[in-house]
Amino acid sequence: MSALVDLNSVERVVEYLDLPQEAPADVESNLVPAYWPSSSSDALVVVEELSIRYSPELPPVLHDVSFSLRPRERIGLLGRTGSGKSTLAMSLLRFVDPSSGRIIVDGLDISKIGLRELRSRVVSRRHRHEIRTF
Ligand SMILES: Nc1ncnc2c1ncn2[C@@H]1O[C@H](COP(=O)(O)OP(=O)(O)OP(=O)(O)O)[C@@H](O)[C@H]1O
Ligand SMILES: [Mg+2]
Repeated sequence: MSALVDLNSVERVVEYLDLPQEAPADVESNLVPAYWPSSSSDALVVVEELSIRYSPELPPVLHDVSFSLRPRERIGLLGRTGSGKSTLAMSLLRFVDPSSGRIIVDGLDISKIGLRELRSRVVSRRHRHEIRTF
């Protein structure tokens, strides 16, 4: 019985090894300035023709979304259930990556930044820039 349980664990680990991985936590580059993201930039967040799909076989849940946000702006995301509010919020921290389009934060395309740096820098400034979904 215990050997069977052990084999189940091994089987599960083998399955997990096949799961798609998140983007790298760290990338070798000096792309991110010490003061990034800075609220002195005019367009703090620029979203350009953003489309997101959860899997290649599924239809996109965001279709060519574009907007920009200024520093200290407070915004609310409105939409019916399943319209993509959480997906959009999560895309700012790259829990989902665009299938097309770009997200620029204070001049940097966030797809070029390691996840660890992106998340720690953006989260540490969240007390000033707040996004709520309703
Ligand atoms: N992990 C996932 N895998 C596949 N599809 C997903 C996943 N998460 C969300 N979706 C789909 O993406 C679409 C948008 O979902 P999302 O959760 O962003 O909507 P929402 O506007 O936040 O909804 P709610 O108001 O219920 O919170 C929905 O059709 C949902 O089924
Ligand atoms: Mg939601």
